[in-house]
Amino acid sequence: MQILDGNLVSAHIKAQIKQEVIDWQAQGGKKPHLAAILVGNNPASEAYVGNKVRTCQELGYESTLLRFGVDITEEELINEVNKLNNDDSVDGILTQLPLPKHISPDAVINSINPAKDVDGFHPITQGKMLLGQPSFLPATPYGILMMLEYYKIDVTGMNCVVIGRSNIVGTPMTVLLSRNANPGNATVTLTHSRTKNLKDITLNADLIVAAIGKPKYVTADMVKPGAIIIDVGINRIEDATRKSGFRLVGDVDYDNVAPLCSYITPVPGGVGPMTIVGLMKNTLDAVKQNAKQAVLS
Ligand code: GUN
Repeated sequence: MQILDGNLVSAHIKAQIKQEVIDWQAQGGKKPHLAAILVGNNPASEAYVGNKVRTCQELGYESTLLRFGVDITEEELINEVNKLNNDDSVDGILTQLPLPKHISPDAVINSINPAKDVDGFHPITQGKMLLGQPSFLPATPYGILMMLEYYKIDVTGMNCVVIGRSNIVGTPMTVLLSRNANPGNATVTLTHSRTKNLKDITLNADLIVAAIGKPKYVTADMVKPGAIIIDVGINRIEDATRKSGFRLVGDVDYDNVAPLCSYITPVPGGVGPMTIVGLMKNTLDAVKQNAKQAVLS
């Protein structure tokens, strides 16, 4: 069994990005600038956004963090997005999810200028991705593809099973693994909470992407020996032995599944760091793309 080490791979790709930013600026390009919107003070969201801002600093990007209280209205929030849409100094915009219940995430995502949609959540971005047109890729699936490439894991012809159908992971992951590209060309089954006989399906999988958001959901009896396991879950479970009172576990019962498989991503230190790299790659693409548009217009 080999661990797919997200910290190692992300460090490698971040070093490449850092150099690319230096080269880009040496040619007269502007610093990439990511703007993040955080509503409320959900501890997990705080941690994710803090990590994104720190990574911007590490890579030589500019970053802006806009924080709003949970009482902000949907209209006010969309107004803030529009200000960022119209700000030429900003290349990428993300709104950390989840948002408070009174705000429609779709309405907010739809208000982001697709040219700045570095999370890859906008319907135009996802539509282009579905059709195989050049687009930003949603950060987590993009990070997983980079991880597979780094370890030279060729998924061509594999039976891949994706567990979970979210717009931000499961559904785009299914599209990307099955498209006629590299990585791609896999035979993909998308499963979810209503799937019958899930175990019969996963036992046939050469590669499983677990993105259902339930701690230790994928157990050893569901996994074919030698399978590849990509665990997207980041679940907080109570742990009185920790100072924080919790620890993070994935959607996979790691201790019992790891000995069975050929490759597995740990939690933490697997997919999480790769998601940030996906976001950073998209932001660098955005500044380059926006510079090209400015020359054309
Ligand atoms: N919430 C959980 N994952 C993500 C992500 O990748 N991006 C944003 N914006 N919010 C999230």
